[in-house]
Amino acid sequence: MNIKQLIESRYSVRSFLDKDVGFEKVKSILDTANSAPSGGNIQPWKVYVLGNNSKNELITQALNNYDTGVQEDIEFEIYPKPLAEEYKKRRSQCAADMYDALSIARDDIDTRLKQVRENFKFFGAPIGMIVTIDKSFAQNGWGHVGMFLQNLWLTAIDEGLGVCLQESWSIYPKTVKKVIDCPNNEMIWCGIAMGYPNNEHPINNYRTSRDSIDAFTSFID
Ligand SMILES: Cc1cc2nc3c(=O)[nH]c(=O)nc-3n(C[C@H](O)[C@H](O)[C@H](O)COP(=O)(O)O)c2cc1C
Repeated sequence: MNIKQLIESRYSVRSFLDKDVGFEKVKSILDTANSAPSGGNIQPWKVYVLGNNSKNELITQALNNYDTGVQEDIEFEIYPKPLAEEYKKRRSQCAADMYDALSIARDDIDTRLKQVRENFKFFGAPIGMIVTIDKSFAQNGWGHVGMFLQNLWLTAIDEGLGVCLQESWSIYPKTVKKVIDCPNNEMIWCGIAMGYPNNEHPINNYRTSRDSIDAFTSFID
């Protein structure tokens, strides 16, 4: 696959095969992702790779939070409030596409919530990771971590793996921090579910749409 094909073939994988991915492979992917650019070469990314014990512990605690309605103080708003119409429309379409692929009716809230719950199992992925960033970084530093994450994702695909980034973990910062034991100056940005994609599952068999470049590009004379 050339780079264009690699970028265009990327999608969020939310069902995985029960097949191990060794830490050696994870290390090699992180090593490649680490070539990402960052302003001033500050390299603000921090990644916690969970072993089986910590992954199971985090899943148990997060599912307990989810099932009992625990709400923790969040460190950032995942979406601005209110979300402008242009973005709200895309967000609703994104959800509709996924639930259509799973044949879940729009008003079937219980089944939708069950699907959201899968986030807190890392969608069954053999590898779960948590990405944090020093709280002192604002938008600029977050952008740099984004470069790292895209590198990681594309490298994983090149290794035959699939990935889903998960901002959902940011709703339980207290729980996540307790399990990964990260210093207080860090905040939880997102999780990463990674493993071999289950190509039979309908959730991996639809693709999200994109507006044309006219929606975001202005060529100025
Ligand atoms: C930073 C980030 C966080 C995300 N968090 C979640 C998440 O918590 N749960 C989820 O199912 N998908 C999550 N996604 C996946 C997006 O929904 C997905 O990228 C988007 O709908 C476009 O679809 P595609 O990745 O299949 O092209 C996240 C993506 C990014 C970049």
